[in-house]
Amino acid sequence: MSTEYHGLAPLGRPGLSHRRPLALSTFHFGAPYYPEHWTEEERREDAERMAEAEFTLVRMAEFAWDILEPEEGKFDFSLFDGVIARLGKEGIQTMLCTPTATPPRWLTAAHPDILRMDSRGVPMQHGARQHACHTNLVFRDYSRRITQAMARHYAGNPQVIAWQTDNEFNCHFSECHCPACQEGFQNFLRRKFGSDIGRLNRAWGTAFWAQTYQDFAQIPTPKPDRPCYDNPAHRLDYYRFVRESVAVFQHEQVAILRQAQPGWFIIHNGCFRHVDYRGLFGQDLDALGYDVYPFFDPDPDHRPYSQAFNLDRTRALTGNFLIPEHQSGGGGQGGYLHDTPEPGELRRMTYSSIARGADGILYFRWRTCRFGAEEYWRGILDHDNAPRRSYAEVAQIGLELKRVGPAVRGTHVRVDVGLATGDIDIEEAHDILSLGLPNPRQSAQTLHEELNRTGYAVGCVHPEDSLGELSLYVIPHWAVFNPDWVPALERFVLRGGTLVIGGRTATKNLDNNVVAETPPGCLHDLTGVRIVEYGRQNCPDKRPLRITYGADHAVTEMWYEVLDASDADELATWTGRHLSGKTAVTRRRLGRGAVYYVGTMLTLPVWNLIWPRIREDAGVEPLWPGTPSQVEVVLRTDGQRRVWFFMNRGDERVRLPRTPTGDSLLDDQEGGGPVFLERHGVLIIRER
Ligand code: GAL
Repeated sequence: MSTEYHGLAPLGRPGLSHRRPLALSTFHFGAPYYPEHWTEEERREDAERMAEAEFTLVRMAEFAWDILEPEEGKFDFSLFDGVIARLGKEGIQTMLCTPTATPPRWLTAAHPDILRMDSRGVPMQHGARQHACHTNLVFRDYSRRITQAMARHYAGNPQVIAWQTDNEFNCHFSECHCPACQEGFQNFLRRKFGSDIGRLNRAWGTAFWAQTYQDFAQIPTPKPDRPCYDNPAHRLDYYRFVRESVAVFQHEQVAILRQAQPGWFIIHNGCFRHVDYRGLFGQDLDALGYDVYPFFDPDPDHRPYSQAFNLDRTRALTGNFLIPEHQSGGGGQGGYLHDTPEPGELRRMTYSSIARGADGILYFRWRTCRFGAEEYWRGILDHDNAPRRSYAEVAQIGLELKRVGPAVRGTHVRVDVGLATGDIDIEEAHDILSLGLPNPRQSAQTLHEELNRTGYAVGCVHPEDSLGELSLYVIPHWAVFNPDWVPALERFVLRGGTLVIGGRTATKNLDNNVVAETPPGCLHDLTGVRIVEYGRQNCPDKRPLRITYGADHAVTEMWYEVLDASDADELATWTGRHLSGKTAVTRRRLGRGAVYYVGTMLTLPVWNLIWPRIREDAGVEPLWPGTPSQVEVVLRTDGQRRVWFFMNRGDERVRLPRTPTGDSLLDDQEGGGPVFLERHGVLIIRER
């Protein structure tokens, strides 16, 4: 669901879909580069070494406002002009960034009002990043000015082909409570409720705990400084305001860039809180960028699975993406330092990223900095500038991408099983009043990992996307639910799709309030069920409940619902306490498809209990049957071309009993026969 933003028209490429490839004629390869951190002498060999590693694109300037505008209104582009020209000579093009994540000291000193404020009114101090407020008019004005100056200066420079807006909006700090945000929030609400305070009072249910407002000017941003819980509708609308504010801030920059040079390719790097990537924010862009840092998951066995889910979730937002920052070494900041990738691990992670939708990769960062908060954030080159195994691995990938890049350009990732994911409203509404239950995103991740482990073509798909290619679609427990989604779900089932809906879905409206109808509200006709009792399970071991399906059982952990299944077939029942014999899971045949309703959380035991039946209805098979679970398998296709990726995510050497017939792109072999994959080994086959 996306909010309407001041009625602004999107400026990017239309048609968001998980199947949308990037509209670029090159598969780009390179790194973010910070010439401002190095002397000319230290930079001397950089361009040549980058060219030797087959770089095509370098990203620069996202934190260099103090260099670009050292004094108010005095611009100095000489450092970047020189570097861009030097890179250009080596055939490497440039992506520039608007440097607005780090407003310079002269600006914050002259205008301390632009600093973001926490909920107690304490302004963020200068000295880190993301310290200025996107709503503040003065900051917006300065941001437009630096964007305009850079856009004018580089509009005619053929080496500059792309832009990134700002850097990772809201990655550290998103909930600002400064006076500009107070006022901005009130104006947002005036627009939303047509200046009718009565409408707001009704929508928010302010009759509860005497919250009734007489005027929009009385409404505060929701701060945690209250004796207890606040109003869930109030808080969700505040998050929507924060999303609007960052979208409008970015829109102003995109408008300037597009006017200066319509040919520029514009991205932003996500994904973070309170940014609606499917809304105006994403629709203003040519594609989304996604920064891939798998080592934030400390468990090496689990890491390939979390990386895969995060990539698929990103693809659900706007389609294939560019990776402006891909982890290349162990990252360290404050109190942590990641593991160092093993030999071959970076390469395997890279191909996993490409398999799951990356249409271009830049490694963070070219060389490890010797100072600042990220002096241990390790890049391709070490502090001493010596090219060692990371550089060699990157150079090898660069060479390989000369074949792999063109093979995958224009393709999308094949998905048979779609998991409803990627709606910021749903996820944030859940977190506001979670009842201690997992976020739907976490439930989707659990199922994703299981289906990924067992070799299915699983992906993340928003219900507003086309469901046509899917055999199975699963909605974990989207409590807030938009009734507008129901007709497309119904069409999906009528045409033969299998739909699985988890407990609590469609129990709340778009204001984050509970619906008046018996749950699952607007999904009653589709599912054929009514929920007549529900409850939390806090000590499942003390009062155990099971779902019984045929001769099998699954223990439930968190939640139960008793279903009145008068318009559906009972598939599984409850066993335990007062629920014994009552309906837990239903199935309803509709057209050529089937709808399942599962009256609990979609945990792994519950999923595995009914999976054989679901799989049979959906008719889904593993993508490449016979692939051992230690191997990640993904297919990229455009309907004609088929490019297969097999990646060994386990610790042991593994045998693939058979492989697709075609050209093996990494080693000039023929596919078809059995293949051994070493630890971190990768096989890519373009089918013939
Ligand atoms: C990203 C950020 C980079 C750098 C990197 C390593 O999130 O965009 O600027 O901070 O993390 O911490």
